[in-house]
Amino acid sequence: MRKLLLTLLASSPIANATSQLISCGTDNSTGSNSDFNLDDLPPEYKDTTNVEDRAQDANMKQIGEDLRSKTIVVYFSGSGNSERSATYLAEQLNLPIFRIERKVDYPSNYSELSEQARVEAVNNQRPELKETPDFINNYEHILLGFPVWWHVAPMVIGSFLEAYNFSGKHIHPFIQSSAYYRGHLLRSLKYLEDNSSQGTIIEKEVYSRNNLVINKWINDFFIPFDK
Ligand SMILES: Cc1cc2nc3c(=O)[nH]c(=O)nc-3n(C[C@H](O)[C@H](O)[C@H](O)COP(=O)(O)O)c2cc1C
Repeated sequence: MRKLLLTLLASSPIANATSQLISCGTDNSTGSNSDFNLDDLPPEYKDTTNVEDRAQDANMKQIGEDLRSKTIVVYFSGSGNSERSATYLAEQLNLPIFRIERKVDYPSNYSELSEQARVEAVNNQRPELKETPDFINNYEHILLGFPVWWHVAPMVIGSFLEAYNFSGKHIHPFIQSSAYYRGHLLRSLKYLEDNSSQGTIIEKEVYSRNNLVINKWINDFFIPFDK
């Protein structure tokens, strides 16, 4: 189903907009890609999830030992939100966790970070990573978390995907942003599809940082792998 959706997307205006984003920096859904600024987002588009409200849901199901031994949480996080979701998943499901890091850290200053991330996205760059450990190859299911940066996945996600052969393996994306524009999600999913090895199975994603939504995603789309 995902393949079908992505095939449809590949020929859709959204997919075309994605290549435009990378090649000339245009995003028709949100205005020019060269002037994206979180401060410019209208309040109704800001994520109002209370990230401190991280009460654990007793209904969260546990996964079996077999699935657990084949599964790892991998994430990239700039300001800690994806890290919180990744840690939550790893703790709830008792999974190992790995953080993707750029070899040269991103600037801590927001404007500099924003500009560097923009230049990387517009040029479709693949920043060098601190580590690409071999143990990632031991896993069949990767819960892959990241924020939307400049309307798409951060370019370090491409660096990570290209470092491995995930053919026949399952990537379960957990993604978040501030605006939660659907176009940004679709671009990010297409980016995963385009930049992972042929035959990688991109599973149904979750687009939220809310733990209850994340729990539902796990129960609906990940737990079935246990059967
Ligand atoms: C460089 C940069 C670019 C961003 N671009 C977008 C964007 O295009 N759309 C959006 O909704 N949010 C955007 N955001 C907001 C992040 O996706 C959001 O704050 C996310 O929760 C950050 O997760 P993190 O703490 O794991 O980095 C951007 C943030 C940064 C730092």
